[in-house]
Amino acid sequence: MATSTAFGDPDAGQPGVVELEQRHVLQNYARYPLVIEQGRGAAVYDDKGKRYVDFISGIGVNALGHAHPRILKVVREQVGRLVHCSNLYYHRYQGPLAARLAELSGLERVFFANSGAEAMEGAIKMARAFGARQTAGKCEIVALENSFHGRTLGALSITGQSKYRTDFEPLLPGIRFVPVHDAGQLEAAVGDQTAAVVLEPILGEGGIVALSREFAQAAAELARRHDALLIFDEIQSGLGRTGAYFAFQLWNQEHRPPILPDVLVLAKPLGCGFPIGALLANERAAAAIGQGMHGSTFGGGALVCRVALEFLAVLPDLLPAIRENGRFFRRRLQTLVDKYEFVREVRGEGLMVGLELSLPAKPFVTQALERGFLINSTHDTVLRFLPPYVIEQKEITRLTDALDRMFGQIQTPPPGGAQQV
Ligand SMILES: Cc1ncc(COP(=O)(O)O)c(C=O)c1O
Repeated sequence: MATSTAFGDPDAGQPGVVELEQRHVLQNYARYPLVIEQGRGAAVYDDKGKRYVDFISGIGVNALGHAHPRILKVVREQVGRLVHCSNLYYHRYQGPLAARLAELSGLERVFFANSGAEAMEGAIKMARAFGARQTAGKCEIVALENSFHGRTLGALSITGQSKYRTDFEPLLPGIRFVPVHDAGQLEAAVGDQTAAVVLEPILGEGGIVALSREFAQAAAELARRHDALLIFDEIQSGLGRTGAYFAFQLWNQEHRPPILPDVLVLAKPLGCGFPIGALLANERAAAAIGQGMHGSTFGGGALVCRVALEFLAVLPDLLPAIRENGRFFRRRLQTLVDKYEFVREVRGEGLMVGLELSLPAKPFVTQALERGFLINSTHDTVLRFLPPYVIEQKEITRLTDALDRMFGQIQTPPPGGAQQV
């Protein structure tokens, strides 16, 4: 492992990588004091060789963990063959990747972008163009309070959290926000001027909150009644994270007719760390975008599409373990809910898991780091866990034991009041 110059060596007058970042990288990120050198499976190693179990996977990106052998193999082959050729030409992988995503989602057409926000921008443009083809002024979008759709101006405009928005206003006009699970306000907000209703089936940054089937059904019916697009943002919840290919499919397991989006937006795990976003649309929505109306220089390059195809080839075999390990994880976290008063609730599906506290969650993230675990907090009081799909139960047990010890320093459980986790 490298000797550490990461934090600089003032005696030698040499700035380390951290100091260089602090001097020269835009000051928009609040980083933890950790320099990650490499990763293998569900673990990463810092510049001093200390091991951390990765329960956040680059915020839901490294779904196959680090250095997965099948991803390594295709990357090595493809880098020497063709990385990028632009969208002026065809290459071997974009068509097959679009076909596979279409097969999994039931949505026939795909546009490839480079990030979640960029794919979301495509969805907003599609909604605008779809509305404009019907009547002038049909350009409104209905979105949810507490949602998160990305940092670009369009995606931010439909993000229902003022802390991300206020510095950049005015944003897009014609956006209406509705509280989660308030069907009355939803009905009042959707009308003939609505071009799209946008939902995260499970709100991620909003604190791991799963929408009820009834609320999603109401949104789908309103969108249909007013000839608006139903857009699902599954950038965080999609592609196996919940143990299903897409979280919306969980609504449809026992119910007919199924709730189906017109547009589905994906990103995070698809490229196993290589940047890619995807906008999937049915023919009705896709027809709004003609030649030259949208594009991306880097989108859908040969390397990233080949990696994404390999990811989708590995994924099916992992789905049962995602479901089983997710249930195991949530059961163990539930024991902490039963044991500590300030631990309020476990939420989530599969390996998209939140633990709601009645205290600020961030100090526990720092403590977990010291104990060798990468976890994350969101929405102030929620600990968020997005481990790689290859996480094992022994690592989940080690984390929940460590959380138990951390929580025990805050509150002594009543004697005999709860069993050990
Ligand atoms: C649900 C959701 N939508 C959109 C985004 C934005 O994606 P990106 O950061 O790749 O632009 C995120 C990122 O966390 C997300 O969780």
